[in-house]
Amino acid sequence: MIEVGTGVRMGRRDVMKASALLAASAWAPVATARDTRDHGARIRDLLSRMTLAEKIGQMNQIAGGRQKALNSRLDAGMLDRVRRGEMGSFLHVAGAEPLRRLQKIAVEESRLGIPLLFAMDVIHGYRTTLPVPLALAAGWDPAMMERAAALMAEEAWAAGLHWTFTPMVDVARDPRWGRVVEGAGEDAYLSSRMAEAQVRGLEGPVRRAGEPPAKGRVLSCSKHFVGYGAVAGGRDYDSADVSERTLHEVYLPPFHAAMRAGSGSFMTAFNDVAGVPMTANEALVGGELRGRWGYQGLVVSDWNAIPELINHGVAATPAEAAALALRAGVDMDMASSTYADHLATAVTADASLVPLIDQAVTRILTTKARLGLFDDPYRFGDAAREKAPLARGTARELATRSIVLLRNEGAVLPLKPAARIALIGALADDASSALGSWRARGQTEDAVTLRRALPQATFDPGTDPAAARVAASADVVLLAIGEDYDMTGEARSRSDIALPGAQQALIDAVRAAGKPIVAILMGGRPLALERALTNIPAVLQTWFLGIESGPAIADVLWGKVSPAGRLPIEMPRTTGQLPMSYAHVPTGRPANPDLAVDSARYHDGAIGPLFAFGHGLSYARFRYSPLTIEQRSDAAVISVAVTNDGSVKADEVVQLYVRDPVASVARPIAELRGFGRVALAPGEQRTVRFTLDHAQVALWKAGKWVIEAGAIEVMVGSSSADIRQRGRFSVAAGEGTVPAASIATLVEVV
Ligand code: GLC
Repeated sequence: MIEVGTGVRMGRRDVMKASALLAASAWAPVATARDTRDHGARIRDLLSRMTLAEKIGQMNQIAGGRQKALNSRLDAGMLDRVRRGEMGSFLHVAGAEPLRRLQKIAVEESRLGIPLLFAMDVIHGYRTTLPVPLALAAGWDPAMMERAAALMAEEAWAAGLHWTFTPMVDVARDPRWGRVVEGAGEDAYLSSRMAEAQVRGLEGPVRRAGEPPAKGRVLSCSKHFVGYGAVAGGRDYDSADVSERTLHEVYLPPFHAAMRAGSGSFMTAFNDVAGVPMTANEALVGGELRGRWGYQGLVVSDWNAIPELINHGVAATPAEAAALALRAGVDMDMASSTYADHLATAVTADASLVPLIDQAVTRILTTKARLGLFDDPYRFGDAAREKAPLARGTARELATRSIVLLRNEGAVLPLKPAARIALIGALADDASSALGSWRARGQTEDAVTLRRALPQATFDPGTDPAAARVAASADVVLLAIGEDYDMTGEARSRSDIALPGAQQALIDAVRAAGKPIVAILMGGRPLALERALTNIPAVLQTWFLGIESGPAIADVLWGKVSPAGRLPIEMPRTTGQLPMSYAHVPTGRPANPDLAVDSARYHDGAIGPLFAFGHGLSYARFRYSPLTIEQRSDAAVISVAVTNDGSVKADEVVQLYVRDPVASVARPIAELRGFGRVALAPGEQRTVRFTLDHAQVALWKAGKWVIEAGAIEVMVGSSSADIRQRGRFSVAAGEGTVPAASIATLVEVV
């Protein structure tokens, strides 16, 4: 087996049976006496000495500041509340020294000395701002995602933080939803791989019970459980009315993968699922997550979500809302103080809540113990490391690997060295947007824009008529278009995701100059660009790439690196097509190009996306040999040789899709079940071998993972729309034990 891609050894295999899987998870049921011995005795003793008020205090997470004013609310009154044991955690706080002082008050000046948990949204960088998560997912390289998570964990740890509200693992198939930027796109399998990679990077390898994380590792939080990406109309916070099968086959798998990777906490989502708000969803949080899956980690509500149960219309008072959330299995209340102010009232009305409070506090105290905070409350934070230089090299490499070449007609790219370049569009000079919407302690001045990275280009922000004049005097035009950072993220849903503002007019003006145009897309969502990109020969999708955006894009433009990114979510032609996914069922009348045939399509537009899921071009060309398939009793081994027929070294992302052509229910026309990013020199050939467990083609039926006997079609290629080789294997009837898409395929490159 050789190193591939980023020099990462492929071969993670995760197809152990559920019991083995769960035991491997740090948050499995307390499986051995050792677990109990390490923490149980201490926690039971502590619990026995806590008053009800102190227990409820542990369930209370308060904002110690605001995102843009961290620590700003840690005034004398707040510190007195810490001394009285009225809170268990703070968010929106940071800094090795200020947090050490705050922890010292909790440990040395409160009655029981229980340490606090300090949390922040470190989504794609703490000080070194990296590409946004959707961009990192476009790298189709879990090792790269893990490196990004490990870097941000180390920087957050140095700042005294214990806990980050990451990874966001919500599958999203409607990019009108602004939070698509925070996840890994439309596919359950890809999202599962990216979820587990982030958890490994943040928490480190799954730890034996009793073993605290290594320095530089923090507690992760898999969010938002569950179905948040399925909100109606792509409207943030709206209802998610999904079928049970879609919930289990599409939205739950990445959470199961994150749990098995050892994610120490989960966050419930704002939305309801089929009318039951997730913050009060006893069936999915209590029944599925804690019951069937056996999850023992901490569950925190999302911001203010507990009192919002009143808005949902399922609670009449804050006390009722508190009781509903507690019964569902929500251990900690983020920012609303509803537990703090109303849970005691709820208890007087219903004493059966007391054991539930004890369970919640036990999980909170166990989380603190597993972080080693009872042994050494000051083990997080390093003021010297906090001042270390930015990791620009890593930021640039991750950014370069996230860029997707969507179109390159006439080989406009890479640019010719002597070309006179016009660089047009305000986004090319927008340092703030390069950082995306969740930027923790990232600073705008850290970002190197494309304009700074291309000093030889003539720049115009897109003014009329200067832009056309600048274009006319150049050999090639680089046109930076898309959205700024504030158009995606939380509460940034849009009803029309065509090119915003006056950018279409800018394109038309620049196009009139008659020079070859390279469109450089920037933004946090796939836009609907069929009209905008008409007659534009070259298109790069560059997302928001962090502090090294400019140099990374320049590396690809000049051909220093061949682009190899792939779309983690397809790009629609028009907004009206949404929601959409490549993994759709065929229907009784599959879409037909002939409009005279009645079929599942629109009559006012072409079929399918503008750019497909998994699409991405290269400066090289790759050839795929016919598949060989080895049938085993419970797996199929699919091998394909890939050759670089191009003239430059480049990565190819080899993708494996499956389809069950005849089953007891309609199955998607394709589902991703494996991929490998392989670096190949010109003329080099490597064989990629996928070992697919039969459990990975199970379907959710009548509350179980059912493997139905029959043939399974296999498709291997460079994208979901560029299948190069096909084959099939057969499976016997059986049962799976975990979500099919959550299981990682063993990928070997030999
Ligand atoms: C926000 C987000 C959540 C985030 C939390 C804390 O509303 O929904 O993703 O982690 O509040 O900032």
